Amino acid sequence: AAIVEQTFNVEDITVQRLCRPQVITAVNGTLPGPTLYAREGDTVIIHLVNKSPYNMTIHWHGIIQFLTPWSDGPEYITQCPIPSGGNYTYKFKVTGQEGTLWWHAHTSYLRATVHGAIIIKPRLGHSYPFPRVYQEVPILLSEWWSANVVEVERNATDTGNAPQRSNATSINGFLGDLYNCSQDQTYKLKVKQGKTYLLRIINAALDEQHFFKIANHSFTVVALDAVYTNHYETDVVVIAPGQTVDVLLKTNQVVGSYYMVATPYRSSDVNSHNVTTRGIVVYDGASQTQTPIMPILPDSHDTPLAHKFYTNITGLTSGRHWVPVPRKVDEHMFITFGIGLEQCINPGPGRCLAANSRLSANMNNESFVLPQGRGASLLEAFYKNISGVYTKDFPNNPPFEFNYTDPALSTLNATTIAIAFAPKSTKVKTLKWNSTIEIVYQNTAILGTENHPIHIHGFNFHVLAQGFGNYNATRDEPKFNFDNPQLRNTIAVPVGGWSVIRFQANNPGVWFVHCHLETHLPWGFAMAFEVENGPTPGTSVPPPPANLPKC
Ligand code: C2O
Repeated sequence: AAIVEQTFNVEDITVQRLCRPQVITAVNGTLPGPTLYAREGDTVIIHLVNKSPYNMTIHWHGIIQFLTPWSDGPEYITQCPIPSGGNYTYKFKVTGQEGTLWWHAHTSYLRATVHGAIIIKPRLGHSYPFPRVYQEVPILLSEWWSANVVEVERNATDTGNAPQRSNATSINGFLGDLYNCSQDQTYKLKVKQGKTYLLRIINAALDEQHFFKIANHSFTVVALDAVYTNHYETDVVVIAPGQTVDVLLKTNQVVGSYYMVATPYRSSDVNSHNVTTRGIVVYDGASQTQTPIMPILPDSHDTPLAHKFYTNITGLTSGRHWVPVPRKVDEHMFITFGIGLEQCINPGPGRCLAANSRLSANMNNESFVLPQGRGASLLEAFYKNISGVYTKDFPNNPPFEFNYTDPALSTLNATTIAIAFAPKSTKVKTLKWNSTIEIVYQNTAILGTENHPIHIHGFNFHVLAQGFGNYNATRDEPKFNFDNPQLRNTIAVPVGGWSVIRFQANNPGVWFVHCHLETHLPWGFAMAFEVENGPTPGTSVPPPPANLPKC
């Protein structure tokens, strides 16, 4: 195994988009940032030099970080932010994972422009569990704001309202020909006829789930979240923020040009937002003047189509690094979540919503607050036994039962107001080392329904079942897939529905759990697991690195 060592210079640069210059924060001067290539078993060392005006961190999304929690990156969870002008070295091993992951800033909206692909190839001498491919191509979908994204978030925090929506979607940094002044900023994938390409699709968007299609072509899904899957044929990929999908693309059509399109999947009706983007697949020898062929796009609210893709793919149990489902459960959790309200802090014109409130979000009626200003990250507090940073009473169940998915909950009335207000807290759930946890994630309809992608740091988890309505153990447990479920790090919990996941808490440390829709994170849509140390040094959190930033 090798050592992959790189320097990430984070600094502000000016780029031209949508007919105007915009200052953005970027890594090594490019958008998206550099692709990190490694082989399974390699050690990755990234020297982060923060020349940006912001205090920030980087998270290596989906990397298990076994015994390297100090390198996970979420600010105030595993480290304090790297100050503007400071630096920090992330060091971790890439073991037991092959495929596509990605890295991104884990500080406010900075991840809109501070992100890039992570590509983990098999060890030398090992091959993919699919036929040889001609070329591998990362496809990064992200969102673009014609504004400073840190200010976009700050404005939202000040008013208590939802933040300004993005102005466009991009493919590998290109907005494409549907946007003003972007004709010559269209991503082109040049291909040869009769070959197989491996597209490594990453949804780095802050808030948009996407349908992804290429006219006249279909895909074979071979991996999700850097875990191999059984081959799954489809002409559309559905991908939520945080997730990755690896597909084989056969260039088996007539020589020509074909649009590749990413168009939002909006699970709720209230939030329509047209930020469709397209790039072009150009065959070698295609005429320069031909208008590319457009695929037929799904309706943006096509939940049955999204659900089919999200649930029909199964894990490849013969794949290297496959983990069988742990059969004995030590702890059951039932976690409800959704959007809610909190008291307005600064009442005044334009600063409050109805009922003197502002938007908030919660899990099991606890709205998570980062321990900012308390002198230590959660992981430091765990390691050094510092009190006053967090409490250990995150509940296993919601405090009250209600009809979680009743559509009537989406309107603000006396009943919803009574359940929408959740207290602010910094509560973690303590897990015994090596115990097996099963969680039912129950989406709620409070103030509106939406599909929420839930990401767990530090683990991959099996997805045993998913469905709509209120979870019902008697009805739904018999449907659990123990044989070949998906194993992933981010689960898109169906709109007005539920997902059941299971994992083994074999990685000591503190691990963040949150909705990967960036709008919902500052509202408190999060919790954390504190996994106790095991009995040996090889199962305990090691000391922090010397240059760990101070709070
Ligand atoms: Cu990709 Cu905590 O995030």
